[in-house]
Amino acid sequence: QLKKTEVVPLLMEWFVQQQQIICANPTEVAAKLRKMVAGGARKTVVISDFDYTLSRFANEKGERLSTTHGVFDDNVMRLNPALGQQFVDLKNKYYPIEFCPILTQEEKIPHMEKWWGTSHSLIVNEKFSKNTIEDFVRQSRIVFKDGAEDFIQSLDAHNIPLVIFSAGIGNIIEYFLEQKLGAIPRNTHFISNMILFDEEEKACAFSEPLIHTFCKNSSVIQKETSFFHEINGRVNVILLGDSMGDIHMDVGVERDGPTLKVGYYNGSLDDTAALKHYEEVYDIVLIHDPTLDVAQKIVDMIN
Ligand code: C5P
Repeated sequence: QLKKTEVVPLLMEWFVQQQQIICANPTEVAAKLRKMVAGGARKTVVISDFDYTLSRFANEKGERLSTTHGVFDDNVMRLNPALGQQFVDLKNKYYPIEFCPILTQEEKIPHMEKWWGTSHSLIVNEKFSKNTIEDFVRQSRIVFKDGAEDFIQSLDAHNIPLVIFSAGIGNIIEYFLEQKLGAIPRNTHFISNMILFDEEEKACAFSEPLIHTFCKNSSVIQKETSFFHEINGRVNVILLGDSMGDIHMDVGVERDGPTLKVGYYNGSLDDTAALKHYEEVYDIVLIHDPTLDVAQKIVDMIN
């Protein structure tokens, strides 16, 4: 059994040895880790994005895998190509805007609202049934990062709440977890866009407020929810994300402890400006990492 003072230097040493890890300010990271180790599991909450954070960005052949919204693009294309094409056209139009390096967030927001709003209307107008959507998920190209199942189960085992904060579709994440883990672990909570079903279990609306990439912060958190009380007093946050929209997911959690931000970089290595930006906003940047090893090691250290 290692002493609490020994674990942080060992983890920092391991970080240095891993090629895919960039840690721009190791002194600050070590200081945050020391506070987290001192606080232990009881003081910790994990706030994580889903698409391309808990799920993989690409398969072994380098082919792009699916987001939660992408589940509709793929499956609808198979069943109803004209409608499927509408989903794909939306993605082709708006995805480049989401990641455009020139536009400001303020300039992007109306486009994101249009993208999410239009694709949600397509889903509601088609009145997809819950069963159909569960089937879509079964046949989808959403793949967990290596170690994600164990990571989620180990958080549950140690009573560390996991908040999955996603601008994707929460029901798709729920069905995916149910299919992969057998059930949603008790510790897992969702802040996401939820499809609401009518009495015949057909999609009839989406939850409000709409959550898109650039409003993942306290503005969309309903503070009366039971889990918000559950995470009260958990002053240390481990934040996992893959985009610039994920870095404020901890805003709204009232506390004075540190947030350790771990960012999964899925972009091009030639895009040095983007990489530099990730290094500035995330404490630890993981380059093209298809695993949850780093997050798991941090949690193991805290327990
Ligand atoms: O928050 P999260 O990373 O899960 O965001 C969901 C992602 O889903 C966005 O980054 C966006 O690129 C994608 N999206 C999509 N189709 C839509 C709306 C969003 O693929 N209709």
